[in-house]
Amino acid sequence: MSSAELSVFIRAIGVHTPERKLTNAELSTMVDTSDEWIKTRSGIAERRIAAPGENPSDMGAKAAAKTLERAGLTPADVDLLIVATMTSDVPFPSTACLLQAKLGLRRDIPCFDVSAACSGFVYALQVAKDMMRSGAYRRTLVVGTEKLSSVVDWSDRTTCVLFGDGAGAVLLETTPEKNVGLLGNLLGADGNNAELLHCAGGGSAAPATADSLRDGKHFLRMNGKEVFRHAVRVMAESCERVLAKCDVKSEQVAWFIPHQANSRILEAVASQLNVGMDRFPSNLERYGNTSAASIPLALEEAWKDGKIKHGDLVLIVAFGAGLTWGATLLRWHEPPH
Ligand code: UT7
Repeated sequence: MSSAELSVFIRAIGVHTPERKLTNAELSTMVDTSDEWIKTRSGIAERRIAAPGENPSDMGAKAAAKTLERAGLTPADVDLLIVATMTSDVPFPSTACLLQAKLGLRRDIPCFDVSAACSGFVYALQVAKDMMRSGAYRRTLVVGTEKLSSVVDWSDRTTCVLFGDGAGAVLLETTPEKNVGLLGNLLGADGNNAELLHCAGGGSAAPATADSLRDGKHFLRMNGKEVFRHAVRVMAESCERVLAKCDVKSEQVAWFIPHQANSRILEAVASQLNVGMDRFPSNLERYGNTSAASIPLALEEAWKDGKIKHGDLVLIVAFGAGLTWGATLLRWHEPPH
């Protein structure tokens, strides 16, 4: 059988979230906001905040360890590691390399980061799938891990109420079975709108200086209204295009797992697709927007709650800084052990 015929499926999934919960009530003692405003405008009630020294590579390694344990595998079984993050531990080396060492993965495997902000996990899945279908890699860890609390301006009420920290991982594996696992995909970007959601300082264009720190250039800035508009349009369109590409109707999709940014965005996307919110599971209320970690966190919860079952069609869709977006249709596959 030629390797081009291999399918790639999610064999196991695991997450890790920091212990510390930051509630809306606590946030309203820090900035001029209220539990009611945050809940009605975003659907968020609390988010997790990483402890000092608890970095994306640490959270990602814990999520990945849990994933391997659920798969009944060890770090030695992994052939490739891809990490999606917009809050890497350090500018270089990659968070993937740091995670490789912490998890004790083999020393000879490729490890790298994908930078596509909140769409990072969907991008990383597609990169992994294409590398694996070549036959060179049998098992891949894809990890989405973020410490957004480190780039949020805690005096800016328009952004600080939205974001949280956490990590999620999947173990991808190849199989000769047909029509299972990652079926179809669509990725896109529009760098002309980069300034709508960005961090201006700290990179090589504007290295950190005393002035840049004073001016808050190292913080995330967002034009929330514009991002909201783009998010609804692009996420709905991406779902429609992937479904058309795979010749699948939205009625056949058991679960939609969108990037968890704002409950009103999810409602608007569901309404554009004419799909009930009962097929859009969400954990936004408890975690807020965790960027590249949000889809694996929501996917794991839907699986653990017994919602996602063997054979279900699941459509994941994301949108984020870049601007970037992506959608993947998959058929959930649980091989007999
Ligand atoms: O991961 C992808 C990236 N992120 C997103 O997808 C986020 C997309 N955007 C959003 O989710 C929403 O635009 C927000 C939740 C950020 C804001 O909701 P909105 O309904 O677009 O509110 P707004 O920005 O139009 O602000 C309405 C009012 C303003 O006051 P005025 O000008 O009407 O007097 C804001 O100053 O609400 C005010 N406001 C707040 N009030 C209390 C903004 N933030 C807060 C706050 N608490 N935290």
